[in-house]
Amino acid sequence: MYQSEIIGCGMYVPEKIVTNNDLAQVMETSHEWIIQRSGIEERRWVTPEVSTSDLALKACEEAIKNAGIDKKEIDCILFATISPDHDFPGSACFLQPKLGLTEIPAIDVRQQCSGFIYGLSMADAFIKTGQYKTILLVGAEIHSKGLDKTTRGRDVAVLFGDGAGAVVIRRAEAQNGAKDSKIFSTHLFAEGVHAKELWAAAPGSGLGSELRMNHEHVEAGLFFPQMNGKKVFANAVRRMCECLMLALEKNNLKLEDIDLFLFHQANLRINQMLAQELKIPEEKVFNTIMKYGNTTAATIPIGMSEAVKAGKLKKGSLVASAAFGSGFTWASTIYRW
Ligand code: UT7
Repeated sequence: MYQSEIIGCGMYVPEKIVTNNDLAQVMETSHEWIIQRSGIEERRWVTPEVSTSDLALKACEEAIKNAGIDKKEIDCILFATISPDHDFPGSACFLQPKLGLTEIPAIDVRQQCSGFIYGLSMADAFIKTGQYKTILLVGAEIHSKGLDKTTRGRDVAVLFGDGAGAVVIRRAEAQNGAKDSKIFSTHLFAEGVHAKELWAAAPGSGLGSELRMNHEHVEAGLFFPQMNGKKVFANAVRRMCECLMLALEKNNLKLEDIDLFLFHQANLRINQMLAQELKIPEEKVFNTIMKYGNTTAATIPIGMSEAVKAGKLKKGSLVASAAFGSGFTWASTIYRW
């Protein structure tokens, strides 16, 4: 069986910075409330003409450059997003021609905040079985176009931001250490009974209406995300702890063996609680939520890029990632950088 490794990463966030004080101009909220509850200081929002695949393209171009490959070597695109360019086809189909590629499979992954690790697991499996050799995996979101930016939606609107992160994953050649797998393992979970604890109902065939989207749905704001924040928070801490410990156990590793923890960025308090519970030293957890908010499928690859730039993620580092989100879905992975 082949092995797979991440050979390059890239990221892109829009230029426009939206501060907590900016949000307080349009809804009843405050910098103090947002900082205290979530740790978020600011986030990025796109301008209207930009689509999710546009953001993805820029992150992918950087990842391809950093991987040092010719883009023609890519034989599969995996695109994790919950904020697609259009209802269908998937955003990977819009991204493929923008990259100047043709015919290779273009697959969307719809696992919300766990989307990047789900995509990594799919890429790893494709490579291990020999089906593909060089896979481009991107997580990208434009949340700013889907948020209720009034006081009614403030519990969700203040948390999310726009951004993209990408990696190139390639079959490890024998001389690069095929025996020493770079992606040690991935662990995926879901519990759909909680699907409506964090969801957007419309457009949808499950609404009991003749059309998937009508004026009443729009007036009721059914296309805005709804969240049971406290329940999501509690489950995030519990499930991320569980799946992280499982990944360590499966690989006969201890928490002390991990050089860097790159967790999903939903709320700084979730990651602080996780670190506290597991007694992980603060300096080993790399967070970006303060600057970008929750960019859902993009948080982990954005974290990779920023950690490389900050000198925290180096060749040979042993990294653990875990994520939790809507679905509920959660996932973990351990990999050698
Ligand atoms: O990646 C996907 C996963 N998402 C998450 O993991 C998010 C998980 N949940 C959370 O991060 C937190 O639950 C929140 C940050 C969303 C909310 O924090 P909380 O401590 O659970 O606050 P709460 O929902 O209990 O709200 C407390 C109060 C309420 O007012 P009352 O009822 O006590 O008068 C809310 O109406 O804060 C109010 N509130 C706000 N106030 C100012 C809710 N949102 C805001 C806001 N600004 N943006």
